[in-house]
Amino acid sequence: MKFFIDTADVEAIKKAVELGMCDGVTTNPTLIMKSGKDQKSVIREIAKIVKGPISVEGIADDAPGMIKEAEEFSKWAPNIVVKVPMTKEGLKAVRYLSSKEIQTNVTLVFSASQALLAAKAGATYVSPFVGRLDDISENGMKLVADILEIFCAYDFKTEVIVASIRHPLHVVDSARMGAHIATMPADVFEKMFRHPLTDKGIAQFKDDYAKTKK
Ligand code: G3P
Repeated sequence: MKFFIDTADVEAIKKAVELGMCDGVTTNPTLIMKSGKDQKSVIREIAKIVKGPISVEGIADDAPGMIKEAEEFSKWAPNIVVKVPMTKEGLKAVRYLSSKEIQTNVTLVFSASQALLAAKAGATYVSPFVGRLDDISENGMKLVADILEIFCAYDFKTEVIVASIRHPLHVVDSARMGAHIATMPADVFEKMFRHPLTDKGIAQFKDDYAKTKK
């Protein structure tokens, strides 16, 4: 299973890279805005430290506009993946970009039918947003299970990036289902390490070790 970091915060990405846990990065316009930098410069900065796929999202509404943005993003680094919204125009762009071997990540996916269409269009990745579904009392992880079942049945090559992750259990459930990738905010990644009994155990072993010193 691959771990992507869902942020444009270069310091947070560096920490995950140092741990050898950052297989890629996903961004969106909101995350770029939070970084306080312009998109091109922050993506180029990220590309200097991350070898894996880096998803970059544009704002065009129609396929020609999306293709133009994709061609521009692709010049920034060799590992750019173009995020395309789950619309008819988006899937037209995906079909074209796929024929040009430009990798795509179909984003804002909220149903299995959308994921199926994205896979048929030749998307490299599809991103179901689990947290945003949970927020409106729908079961985000059930959607991931449905998509994986469909992709498996037809041997689609499209990989599932579980996105809009809110807590470590989303990551664990993704792993249990065999999702290819979980993209998580830096704070969720941090939380995955923690357990109070680990801290308590370390403190106790240190105390007991000290008692053996004469
Ligand atoms: O990057 C896409 C997605 O992960 C955004 O998540 O937290 O804004 O729902 P969120």
